[in-house]
Amino acid sequence: MKNKPIVILGIESSCDDTSAAVIRDGYLLSNVTASQAVHEAYGGVVPELASRAHQLNIVPVVDQALKRAGVTKEELSAVAFTRGPGLMGSLLVGVSFAKGFAASLGIPMIDVNHLQGHVLAHFIREQTPSPLPLKGESGHSQEEKIKENGDKADACSEHSTPLPHREGQGVGSADGGAAAGSSLPPFPFLCLLVSGGNSQIVLVKAYNDMQIIGQTIDDAAGECIDKCSKVMGLGYPGGPIIDRLARQGNPEAYHFSKPAIPGYDYSFSGLKTSFLYNLRDWLQEDPDFIEHHKEDLAASLEKTVVDILMNKLRRAAKDLKIKHVAVAGGVSANTGLREAFKDHARRYGWTIYIPKFSFTTDNAAMIAITGAFKYADKDFCPMEAPAFSRVAL
Ligand code: KG4
Repeated sequence: MKNKPIVILGIESSCDDTSAAVIRDGYLLSNVTASQAVHEAYGGVVPELASRAHQLNIVPVVDQALKRAGVTKEELSAVAFTRGPGLMGSLLVGVSFAKGFAASLGIPMIDVNHLQGHVLAHFIREQTPSPLPLKGESGHSQEEKIKENGDKADACSEHSTPLPHREGQGVGSADGGAAAGSSLPPFPFLCLLVSGGNSQIVLVKAYNDMQIIGQTIDDAAGECIDKCSKVMGLGYPGGPIIDRLARQGNPEAYHFSKPAIPGYDYSFSGLKTSFLYNLRDWLQEDPDFIEHHKEDLAASLEKTVVDILMNKLRRAAKDLKIKHVAVAGGVSANTGLREAFKDHARRYGWTIYIPKFSFTTDNAAMIAITGAFKYADKDFCPMEAPAFSRVAL
């Protein structure tokens, strides 16, 4: 007799994206995200507006995710939701919805740490091409085969490979099977987690055993880019704008200060200040300096951020003798950072894991896959579990 499929609904509402996704037996069926344009006019996320928009979006987004997955709510095994960290008002919408939905269906709830979700986004699998990758074999590459955010993947194979849970388990072989195309990193691996609020080097020993070995002591990388973009009057969020401009600029045109912080920790506030002070001087000489040089400014800023990130990551990988290295979070969408990862793979023999664009920024697929891991361990949470605005990995 065929086993009943494990169907997880994931819900993400930690910041300004309302997202819902469905995963069946470890494979993504749908991932629907409603973004909130309302914040653009303010140059940053306005928490009160974000929670109100989540309230409007949550029901239609979940409805769409179920419809696109071709799944009824009665078929769900559990509801996984982002419990934190994030904006409290935003989190509360997702958490409350998840609680009500799970209670009405009589199914378990699974609380997910948003940061853990970003790291585990590397385990999202979509529809399998013919035979599923088994241990040591190469499978599909995330970059090439995964469908766009919100697309419905085709029917899953019934013979799904179980998710690797801890050290020694993995679909890609440690000797380079993953480099040959398998998309799932083997434990342990290193993950550079870079977003608007975090810049961390995470040692991932198991899906539920992650150690932050380095992190920013002040601003995050994405925050630094966003703030520099703001002082240039380029709009919000600055990351994608800087990325686009940087492609046409000279990364060696300007040099900004780099931090000297011990260990694997980061600092980005000095770079932000150096960028601001230099810009102020240049604007005194030429009031149109930004307009005349925005491509070079963007390229030089991006290069400085990427160099800072990669220098520490490279040192950590060398010291820990780990060659499986992943990147996650919103800033992992950055072209220069992605290129730097590819360059390191060539130069240092790293096997790299770069998420598809739709899994870099906040999305419910990463929450659902984390839910799938926890479901297998029957790691459920009680109805009274509160949302946390601040929580470590
Ligand atoms: O993970 P994320 O979506 O949200 C949180 O921080 O919660 O990351 C958002 C950050 C923003 O700082 C945004 O500017 C940055 O990711 N970002 C980028 C790019 N796309 C998004 N930074 C550099 N280049 C990009 N292409």
